[in-house]
Parts: sequence; structure tokens; C-alpha cells
Amino acid sequence: MEKRELLYEGKAKKLFTTDDKDLVISEFKDDLTAFNGLKKSSETGKGALNNKISTELFKLLEANGIQTHFVKMLDDNHMLHKKVDVILIEVIVRNIATGSLSKNLGIEDGKVLPFTLVEFDYKNDALGDPKLNDQHALILGLVEFQDELDKIRRMARQINDILRPYFADKGLNLVDFKLEFGKDSSGNIILVDEISPDNCRFWDAKTGEKMDKDRFRQGLGGLKVAYEEVLNRILGK
Ligand code: TYD
Repeated sequence: MEKRELLYEGKAKKLFTTDDKDLVISEFKDDLTAFNGLKKSSETGKGALNNKISTELFKLLEANGIQTHFVKMLDDNHMLHKKVDVILIEVIVRNIATGSLSKNLGIEDGKVLPFTLVEFDYKNDALGDPKLNDQHALILGLVEFQDELDKIRRMARQINDILRPYFADKGLNLVDFKLEFGKDSSGNIILVDEISPDNCRFWDAKTGEKMDKDRFRQGLGGLKVAYEEVLNRILGK
């Protein structure tokens, strides 16, 4: 399967059409952005690491009954996946308080939450991705029915219930992460986008060291080494 026309270029990926109208190819870029695009950089090899990490995690989720857009990894930087209508909601799942949750609500950084929190943000750069409740999402027409929001929230919790113990076994705390969902050609809600250290927070269970994009956001350095370590632990190396 080969790339045809560029459909869309996002911050971390380019999307291309293929000969099959139901399939598209994502090219994982080395670019890094933070703080609504104000901080930018790039790290050679980051795209390939995210492609490989996402591939392993999509396979794991599929094996555990979660429907995703994943079809296959084509090469280091390219993934073949189903074409969907993306639902413009960023689904944030949190096990431990940090980042904007700690800042906005004054919850101590690093506090384990009494239960897993699932939040919705409006995927809209111009508005700065504001928080949404279910009524906002329905009024904006991001989905048609409440049961679609219920399904998204249920899938997000199931995904967390698979990923959290999986990473705990590998000595990584899954602190929080962002998911996106879409509707496939039959109208099923499926998991899309990527699952990588660009949109998950991983803290080493022993040392507390940050193994994700916060290394870039917070100017800590060693981003690629951390992403390689996450991939190696996934692969059991
Ligand atoms: P959050 O604490 O809301 O934001 P910030 O990174 O600004 O502190 O992030 C929660 C998790 O969701 C974290 O793992 C990063 C991820 N995330 C994204 O990947 N993209 C986004 O646009 C946002 C807001 C969060």
C-alpha cells in the first residue's frame, strides 16, 4: 500500500490517502510541540519510536477486545489504518494528579486519585482545547447522542484497565493519557490517533523519572533515550 495525496498535516503526523478509500496512511513526524504550539523542536527518530510504540499498544488493545483503527505498521515512520470521521473530543484519562489537573484544581502533584478520572476537552486549537461536559459536547454536535459519550467513556476506562497493569508489570506508572475516537464506515466508535509518550505520561515506578513528552515540555533533555526505554520495556528487552 502506497501514499497518494496528502489529506492533512497535524503537529505530529501527516495523513495520506491510499488506493483504498477506507484506508489511510499516517506518517509519524519527528516534530515536537508544546503549550499550544508555542514551543517547537524536533528529535530525529522520535516519529519511528512513536509508530512502533503505538503499533504494539494497538495490537495489545485489539487482542483485549478494543476496536481500533490500526491495520499494520508499514515501515519505521508509516502506519496503515482505517479512515474514520474523527470525533472532536480529546479524552483525557488520569490515574495520578499532575499537569493541568493539579494546576487548575490545586490537587497535590503525584497524588494517586481515589478513582480514575475521565475528562473531555474540545479538540479545537483556536479555542485552546477547552474542557467540555456532556451537555457542551451534545450542544456542539460533536456526537449525536448521550449513549455515544457513555460508550467513549466506557472504552476509555477499559483501555486504562488494560494499559495500567500492563505498564505496571514493566515498572512504569501510567499517570495519565489522551485518547481520540472516530466513527468507521459502519458507524462504529473505534480508537484512533496514537498511543505514545507524546500523549501519555509514564513515570518510572522505582525512581519517579519522567519517561514521556514532559522531558521536552519541561526542558529535561534525554527525550529519545526515554522513548527508547519505553519501547524496550514494551518489547521486554
Ligand atoms: P494535561 O495535564 O491536561 O495537560 P498538560 O500536558 O498541559 O499538563 O495532560 C493530560 C495528559 O493528556 C498528558 O498525558 C498529556 C495528554 N494530552 C495530550 O496528549 N494532548 C493534549 O492536547 C492535552 C491537553 C493533553
